[in-house]
Amino acid sequence: MQDLENCLNHDKASAELKSVVTTLIDVTKEIAFAVRQGALAGVLGSAQVENVQGETQKKLDVIANDLLKSALSENSCVRALASEEEEHVVALHQSGKYIVAFDPLDGSSNIDINGQIGTIFTIYPALENVAADSPAQFFQLGKNQLCAGYVLYGASTLLVLTSGGPTRCFTLDPHSNEWVLTNAQLQVPQNTQEFSINMANQRFWSDNFKRYVADLLLGETGVRGKRFNMRWNAAMVGDVHRVLTRGGIFMYPNDNRNPRQPAKLRLLYEANPMALLIENAGGKACSEAMNKIQRILEITPESLHQRVSVVLGSANEVDICNTYLFKRDQQAEPVLIENDEAY
Ligand code: AHG
Ligand code: MN
Ligand code: MN
Repeated sequence: MQDLENCLNHDKASAELKSVVTTLIDVTKEIAFAVRQGALAGVLGSAQVENVQGETQKKLDVIANDLLKSALSENSCVRALASEEEEHVVALHQSGKYIVAFDPLDGSSNIDINGQIGTIFTIYPALENVAADSPAQFFQLGKNQLCAGYVLYGASTLLVLTSGGPTRCFTLDPHSNEWVLTNAQLQVPQNTQEFSINMANQRFWSDNFKRYVADLLLGETGVRGKRFNMRWNAAMVGDVHRVLTRGGIFMYPNDNRNPRQPAKLRLLYEANPMALLIENAGGKACSEAMNKIQRILEITPESLHQRVSVVLGSANEVDICNTYLFKRDQQAEPVLIENDEAY
């Protein structure tokens, strides 16, 4: 705890904020233990229940959600929580200064194959004039996040966290069960030769997006003049961790599989915390919708489980991807840039 406490102090986190972070990351140690036990504790497999997203929950989705919910409900600093596995906001303590949103178990399809999975979380200030049980508590811009992070249950158990300062990485010491600072400042390289996307969805992408990825595949003699490699973990937490570690571009674009649901990843508890971690490590994170590109952290949320397209990672590659999304399409309307930054 010493390392983590020093980092939070360095970022001028209040005592109450530190207590919420501590509650969250203490629970992730319990989740990590359950993950490590796997079949021995009977935690693998389906819970045979659907969540609000219409996805069948795995047992670990439910276990992780229940552990987080129960621990946070005992912390008087938490006004309300929102979770991928909860249809509505859960009101907690009326005088709590903070609200917390989380994806209790990211990468659920990896649970039964012993692949990478994680917990993603974010903390915002509670809004004074909004009821604790109102979703409007969570309709804040991502740039208002006070703290965002994930725990990656991989070969090592890692905590990646930002609380306004740099994005840092801690490793859970299996002997002491304490988080030890192992990278004080993650830095995403500006350029990359590695991309991350579910290629099975290619036929559902926009023509512009298809053109961008097609050019990545052309290799040294193509317009990009270099060979790109591809990686896809099927867990955002694993893919983003790779990008934070050695650079890359991670994409989950809009597609037309289901016209009522063009995007897959959720703004509140997937895109926003990852965008803050990436930006505080020198990368970029953006989203495109209706012919506009936005910095993810400047999207105004309109619903609790809102989905957004995501392109994030090495800054120069994100910029190049965005030029394809609009400038190469002769049919497209002029690009509307949503903010002053160079997107
Ligand atoms: P979750 O397990 O929380 O529902 O999230 C899964 C998400 C994300 O982690 C990952 O990037 C993506 O779904 C994988 O999608 P594909 O099934 O298209 O690979
Ligand atoms: Mn997820
Ligand atoms: Mn999940």
